[in-house]
Amino acid sequence: MAKTSAYKATSKNATNGAKKTPAKSNAASGLTDLFEDQLKDIYWAEKALTKALPKMIKNATALSLKNALMDHLEVTEDQVDRCEDIFDAIGKKATASKCEAMEGLIKEANEIVESTEPGSVRDAGIICAAQKVEHYEIATYGTLLAWAKQLGENKAASLLKETLDEEKKADVTLSDIAEANVNVKAEDEDDKSVVKSKKTKAR
Ligand SMILES: [Fe+2]
Repeated sequence: MAKTSAYKATSKNATNGAKKTPAKSNAASGLTDLFEDQLKDIYWAEKALTKALPKMIKNATALSLKNALMDHLEVTEDQVDRCEDIFDAIGKKATASKCEAMEGLIKEANEIVESTEPGSVRDAGIICAAQKVEHYEIATYGTLLAWAKQLGENKAASLLKETLDEEKKADVTLSDIAEANVNVKAEDEDDKSVVKSKKTKAR
């Protein structure tokens, strides 16, 4: 065991010629800076989501999914406000900085919608896309919560915990909806398309 990790640490092959990335002139110099940077990132992400969720709601078919997404839109609007409260708690001005990951996740959600027939299959795709978003948010808020605690930012930490719990709840709700009926109905579409293709072949 020890031998393996010693090998890994010293192996030239491990980094495969990768070079250390030089820091930008405005790079974070401490955890406080890094905390603020990531808060700006999730603030942008939450705002972007309030614009992306209506499209997902419009494209969802199952009422349970539509309702869950509508609830989450309201929750997300509150989370935008809560981000501003967190900036306030740390004595900083609320500023959004573009979150490349959320932009990508929203783009992927749109692609999933376009590449599925409306109905249960699209619903399953929307749940997939929404859960990817939730997991990204859970990762960010989980990290921000740990950093707020480390920095002794107790007010910010309790606000972050509220949002983290909401994201986890949304994730569980989406899993429940998928497993309760959407996945089964989406699988039924497989059978229909098999019948359809058999009929086409028989002609
Ligand atoms: Fe959120």
